[in-house]
Amino acid sequence: MTQLTFDTARTLAAGWGPGDEVVVTRLDHDANIRPWVLAAQAAGATVRWADFDPATGELTAGDVAAVLSPRTRLVAVTAASNLIGTRPPVRAVADLAHAAGALVHVDGVHLTAHAPVDVAAFGADFYVCSPYKFLGPHCGVLAAAPTLLEGLRPQKLLPSSDAVPERFELGTLPYELLAGTTAAVDFLASLGPEPGDRRSRLVAAMEAVAGHEDRLRARIEAGLAALPGVTVHSRAAHRTPTLLVSFAGREPGDAYAYLADRGVFAPAASFYALEASRRLGLGDAGALRIGLAPYVDDTDVDRLLDGLAAFLTT
Ligand SMILES: Cc1ncc(COP(=O)(O)O)c(C=O)c1O
Repeated sequence: MTQLTFDTARTLAAGWGPGDEVVVTRLDHDANIRPWVLAAQAAGATVRWADFDPATGELTAGDVAAVLSPRTRLVAVTAASNLIGTRPPVRAVADLAHAAGALVHVDGVHLTAHAPVDVAAFGADFYVCSPYKFLGPHCGVLAAAPTLLEGLRPQKLLPSSDAVPERFELGTLPYELLAGTTAAVDFLASLGPEPGDRRSRLVAAMEAVAGHEDRLRARIEAGLAALPGVTVHSRAAHRTPTLLVSFAGREPGDAYAYLADRGVFAPAASFYALEASRRLGLGDAGALRIGLAPYVDDTDVDRLLDGLAAFLTT
């Protein structure tokens, strides 16, 4: 996704100049910030920052509206924060951006692993995600309307195809990654009920994944609330099951190491959501992140909570 976003930013910025504006948010992973900031700088365009509320974790449509103008060419916004899980009102943001004449680039890397996705319902002009987040291999995915892609001129080799989407592929295609991505989607869809086409089974499967992860999240939240000195930074009303936590007087990195010794993987970092970590007052070090996946179960939650309780009482 990072590579794709740099490529898309460079391609779009070829049409930007002084007076044009680009909107990024402080909630986003740096991969949906820095490519736009650097592309804007190179083009002489202005970057406007939409802020989120660190107390609630919410990024509202009003936060984006505050920095939109008729000069806005692009709004880059996340579908879900990989740091605190917040799911901003992407559709409302997209409607505002479109009314201002801007394109909308949605980072779906975190969300796509945790919930069904409807790119059209988001109003996204560009939607990016990474199959390695949903049991697939390491390649990047960009979804956009062919008519939009037809109008873009990426840097490319002369002999390579100018057709859409091949125009955007560089060099020999990674066929094994493409096959692996299809297999990952097929596998997820196979978790959905029969009969049904792949899309309807995939949506049902991802709804089941979201339900499973939300149930475990509620257990973890209840367990964390019973522990001393724990601050949970994931607070938005609508969010993925991703919990960012810090501890009074204890280093998150020490909790990470302690849990790792007990076979529980909950790393401590900013997870490249650097602006969000800073805005939350966590600096560049971030905090401990508890993530869930379809294969996590109640015994894993027990081990996590037991491990944290032991860490906080040693
Ligand atoms: C929300 C979000 N956006 C973007 C990225 C970057 O994706 P990639 O590793 O495919 O470049 C990540 C990676 O963790 C992410 O969580």
